[in-house]
Amino acid sequence: MWSRLNRHWKRLLVICLALLFASVTFVVGFWDTINEIPDRWHMPFLNPEPVSSLGFPTAIFNLDSETASLQHPINDLIANADEEYEHLVAKQSTGLAQAAQAYRSWRGRHPPPWFDQWYAFAELHDCVMIEDLFDRIYHDLNPFWAIAPDRLRADAAAIPNYIRVRNGKVYRSSMQQLAAFLPDVDIPINHMDEPRVLVSWDTIAEEMKILDASLGRQDLAQAPPIDTFAPLSQPPAASKDISFTTKAPYWNVARQACSPSTEARTSQIDTDFSTAPDFPQKYPYGTFSGYVQNWTLSQDVCSHAHLRNMHGTFVEPVSISTSTSLIPMFSGSKLLMNNDILLPGAMYWTDKERFAASKHHIPWQDKRDEVFWRGTASGGRNKADNWGRFQRHRLVSMFNGTQVEMTLAASNKTADHAHDGLPHNFSPPNEELYPLVSTKLGLLPDWIRSFSNVAFYWLECFPATRDYGCSYTGSWYRRGRPVSLERMFLNKYLPDVDGNSFSGRFRAFLMSNSLPLKATIYTEWHDYRLIPWKHFVPMDNTFVDLWSILEFFFQQDRKAEKIALEGRKWAERVLRKDDMLVYVYRLLLEYARVVDPNREEMGFGLDLTTTAAT
Ligand SMILES: *[C@@H]1O[C@H](CO)[C@@H](O)[C@H](O)[C@H]1NC(C)=O
Ligand SMILES: *[C@@H]1O[C@H](CO)[C@@H](O)[C@H](O)[C@H]1NC(C)=O
Repeated sequence: MWSRLNRHWKRLLVICLALLFASVTFVVGFWDTINEIPDRWHMPFLNPEPVSSLGFPTAIFNLDSETASLQHPINDLIANADEEYEHLVAKQSTGLAQAAQAYRSWRGRHPPPWFDQWYAFAELHDCVMIEDLFDRIYHDLNPFWAIAPDRLRADAAAIPNYIRVRNGKVYRSSMQQLAAFLPDVDIPINHMDEPRVLVSWDTIAEEMKILDASLGRQDLAQAPPIDTFAPLSQPPAASKDISFTTKAPYWNVARQACSPSTEARTSQIDTDFSTAPDFPQKYPYGTFSGYVQNWTLSQDVCSHAHLRNMHGTFVEPVSISTSTSLIPMFSGSKLLMNNDILLPGAMYWTDKERFAASKHHIPWQDKRDEVFWRGTASGGRNKADNWGRFQRHRLVSMFNGTQVEMTLAASNKTADHAHDGLPHNFSPPNEELYPLVSTKLGLLPDWIRSFSNVAFYWLECFPATRDYGCSYTGSWYRRGRPVSLERMFLNKYLPDVDGNSFSGRFRAFLMSNSLPLKATIYTEWHDYRLIPWKHFVPMDNTFVDLWSILEFFFQQDRKAEKIALEGRKWAERVLRKDDMLVYVYRLLLEYARVVDPNREEMGFGLDLTTTAAT
């Protein structure tokens, strides 16, 4: 038969077989990729998940004629935020003398020595000069005024990782740019992701009393007697008695830092994490009709004790090692209850594509009406019997139309859910507290599908797996193709939640012209520089408000655009690398003072002597 075919047909047959073979190899080889969530969600032939019947997230508003968004509490929060911002920028000081006076009246002591050089540096780098923007430094350092300087230096010397400044030179580090301006100082650095210092509430309360007593002692009308730092020729002898506890659960250490008046102080953590967490059935504490109004308060686990059972940090942290006595330790982020001293996180200094955005901005109207998130299932060590308590898993589930549909169906049955096989890692918000148009129309899952492109690209399974699969979460979460920041920024809405500690993307998100939706229990150096609802959208750490926030902004696109743009403009004024340098410079002057044996007599007063002379 073969020999009877003419050459022409033979050739054609060989070509066809080769093509068939090539396409089979291609499909087999790329099967995983074909099965991933692409970054263009709304291309049905590429999308392995069910597609929304709605088409567009705004379609539900056409179906419901009487949507009452005019009275929405978020309108008030936005108005308040605008006002707060105007109030803040009105405090800008001009000139060294004004800045020094603003310092004295706000902080109750003289500025640190060399304040004039710091001021000149800040001015040269075109920094916004508002004393409040440095509040974080004082929250972090104030308790240290209760500890003797010698002791602080000895404790610092006992930490193996440090940056040493001597004679204007840095011997180990990336702080080169500042070295020439700094006094002799040793800066102990935390090399872990997690914070390291946590002192009990009672001890801090005692220490703050000592601080208050010391504050009255300086005469703020007179220049202080000592105007410079003591040189440090010898490295101080290291303390022998500092220690770190790794005792689990971390919650039992952490809650000691809560005020005795809080429920958290005496709350026990769950011992069985395989069940659904307890979601609060009321508005989260301190919110305005259910929406975060005080960002600091929203981060406070002491006031939101339920978070102990629904955040990886408490459920099962990857690594914890905590000093319960007050020692100096510089970290990139911490819980409000920690006593680490905050520096801008290491990733903020790099130009690595993972954390830094390019200067090119996509205009808001050109972005897709989508919510985009890609990340790994971090947050702690997730396992078969605890992963339902992790925040990132909760976020991805709440953005998954299929899981929302299943959860709604299960909760309507009102029976015992324990055996329906669902993880129950979220519960749908109470419809009276958070009314949704989509719920009213019975279209919530479809509405979520119409905008959500949220997926893990790695499940961080324990024990570790070689590929994406995971025996316990693999069937719940399809892999999303990892994408660059630039591609994330093609979308309007960018949720951002904690991993093992803070998420290093927030700064890039703020600068992206997209709208960051932020929930965190980790505080960072920049927190006092940002105003929620003015520069970004804050979310509760349970995410109960998540769908309502999106409903509001999908309906009021101009308001979302305004926050995205103003957040970017402000970030470009106060979160630049230069701003971080100026912040660190001020922080280190303050730190060098608090560990100086002459600290009570020291300070900057040059502006006082010159005014006296004229
Ligand atoms: C916000 O909450 C923090 C922490 O509880 C509190 O100290 C602060 O006073 C609150 N701010 C306002 C404006 O209420
Ligand atoms: C959404 O949930 C379904 C059901 O659990 C799951 O099969 C699917 O992979 C999930 N999708 C994503 C993007 O995680």
